[in-house]
Amino acid sequence: MQKLIIQGGSPLRGEITISGAKNAALPVLCASLLTRDTLQITNLPFLKDVTTMLALLEQMGTNVIANNPSEVALTAAHLSNPVAPYEMVKTMRAAILVLGPLLARTGEANISLPGGCAIGVRPVDQHIKGLQAMGAEIKIEHGYIHAVAKRLEGTRIVMDMVTVTGTENLMMAATLAAGTTILENAAREPEVVDLANCLVAMGAEICGAGSDIITIKGVKSLHGATHHVMPDRIETGTFLVAGAASGGEILLKRACNKTLDAILDKLLEAGATIETEENQVSLKMNTKPKSVNFRTAPYPAFPTDMQAQFLAMNCIADGTAIVTETIFENRFMHVQELKRMNANIEVEGNTAIVRGIKQLDGANVMATDLRASASLVIAGLIAQGETVIDRIYHLDRGYEQIEKKLSQLGVQIKRIQ
Ligand code: UD1
Repeated sequence: MQKLIIQGGSPLRGEITISGAKNAALPVLCASLLTRDTLQITNLPFLKDVTTMLALLEQMGTNVIANNPSEVALTAAHLSNPVAPYEMVKTMRAAILVLGPLLARTGEANISLPGGCAIGVRPVDQHIKGLQAMGAEIKIEHGYIHAVAKRLEGTRIVMDMVTVTGTENLMMAATLAAGTTILENAAREPEVVDLANCLVAMGAEICGAGSDIITIKGVKSLHGATHHVMPDRIETGTFLVAGAASGGEILLKRACNKTLDAILDKLLEAGATIETEENQVSLKMNTKPKSVNFRTAPYPAFPTDMQAQFLAMNCIADGTAIVTETIFENRFMHVQELKRMNANIEVEGNTAIVRGIKQLDGANVMATDLRASASLVIAGLIAQGETVIDRIYHLDRGYEQIEKKLSQLGVQIKRIQ
């Protein structure tokens, strides 16, 4: 198993380019199932989750041509095997995103239930409820969702909670349904908007993406298109927090500033100086950060995918911070590891109380999930001495070339087997 070794203590300085967004790329890849024609996707991040999704689409019958690691052409002319097997779904929950498009296009889908994961139970009842409301017959047997539908029918669906992949699955399914679908209490995440832009380029009729009511008028068929994946706002936020926590000065190119409001507000509150231009953001931190309180919630509020990174910064900030996680029930697993580095954190239910200390100590720590891993990298950057992070395959699921980018910013970091 690979590990990362980080020598802490030096501020990040320099510039890097932000990659395409994992959480936008995965649904856009699945959108290729909705047409016989070719969908060209550019600015694809080279990540484990992306290669897993490509393998899944390929085994269903999609022809995958990778022009280079960031550009792929997908043609799903004949889908001979509408199945997402357990072996693939268990490594990547986002595989559930094939359910809606597969059912809409072929009238059938057999998808392994994703089950729980480290950060929480994560049911998919809203995906299933929505497709049933559109006329699908769904049975759950032997750990698989078996769905059939002659042609889905548009209807009004009010989701019980805000779910990102749930909204994306139903939006994709509705593009080929008979009549109009109205999704209420829809997720407003920028990745939902990116997917809607891709679907519209393919001939779908969608309005309201980015608001909590999305209206989709079903069409008979979709056609090929080219889509450029939006920049990764969570990767951008992660590097900004690393810059702030280390007292550095960094420039991030190809970032999408309009998706970063909640993150930038908290960095300003921590004492950073931030400048944004059309496609880039720079950050300078001259002082020790101030503690920041926050509460995670659906977009446009503070993202759960940035909670662990800000919590790491709070460990060495001036003051005490209260961090509340409202999206996932078990998303404080990084706390135990940060404590091994001497952090002063107490967890009560879904709230962590972080008392800032002068400095973290380098230690051997274990990555437990994707964003928890990012928080350990940030902790390693600001700790005194060496930090060794084990199980970094979690990081490779969501951060493209992380050690190369950190090296570019002056960090002493290496990967070992
Ligand atoms: C997506 C993101 C993930 C992010 C999360 C929240 C992708 C590939 N992943 O995950 O990085 O952390 O949004 O912003 O885009 N829920 C149900 N029933 C459902 C669906 C969801 O109870 O049918 C619950 C979940 O357990 C969770 C909450 O709703 O508590 C939000 O989950 P959801 O938005 O669906 O997360 P994902 O789409 O899986």
